[in-house]
Amino acid sequence: MTDDTIKEVLKRIPYGFYAITSRSGDDVNAMVANWVMQTSFSPRQVALGLEKVSYTYGLIEKGGVFAINIFLKDGADALKPFMKGRSKNPDKMKDIQYSEGPETGSPILESAAAYLECRVVRIVDTGGDHDTVIGGVVAAGVSSPGEVGDTLSLPDLGWSYAG
Ligand SMILES: Cc1cc2nc3c(=O)[nH]c(=O)nc-3n(C[C@H](O)[C@H](O)[C@H](O)COP(=O)(O)O)c2cc1C
Repeated sequence: MTDDTIKEVLKRIPYGFYAITSRSGDDVNAMVANWVMQTSFSPRQVALGLEKVSYTYGLIEKGGVFAINIFLKDGADALKPFMKGRSKNPDKMKDIQYSEGPETGSPILESAAAYLECRVVRIVDTGGDHDTVIGGVVAAGVSSPGEVGDTLSLPDLGWSYAG
C-alpha cells in the first residue's frame, strides 16, 4: 500500500467542523478544528487532535479548559474569523461576540448552535505533529435545536484536513 492510498483512505473519514475555544486567565482564543470525537461514555470524554504549534495548544495547556462550538450547516461563515492562527491574526477575537461558559469560562460563541465545555483530563504527546487532548465534558448548551444531520461538517464544504 502506497502512502497515497493511506492518504486517500484517511480522507474518507467524515468529520464535523467546529470552533475550539480556550481560555487562560484573560487570554481567550478560537480556532477551527475537525479532529474531534467522543472517546468514553462514563465518564463522558472527548478527544481533540491538536497541533503542537497552535496558539490554542498553549492556552489549553495553561488554562486546562476548552469548549467545542458546534454549528448548523448554514453557519460556516461564522467560522471564517478563526481560520488563521493567532500569530497571523493577533486580533481575531476582537470583534467576536461570546459569553463565558458557566463551568469553565471558555468562550461560548454567540454564533454557535450548541457547545460542550471540557476540562482537560490529559494531553497525550504522541510524538507526532499533533497531540491528543482528552477532555472531560462538564457542561453543554443548545441555542439552536437540531439533529446530527443538521451539524456543519467538513464534507459539506468540500474541504479536507486529513491524510
Ligand atoms: C479545515 C481545517 C480543519 C482543521 N482542523 C484542525 C484540527 O482538527 N486540529 C488542529 O490542531 N488544527 C486544525 N486546523 C488548523 C488550525 O485551525 C490552525 O493551526 C490554526 O491556525 C490554529 O489557530 P491558533 O494558532 O490561533 O490556535 C484545521 C484547519 C482547517 C482549515
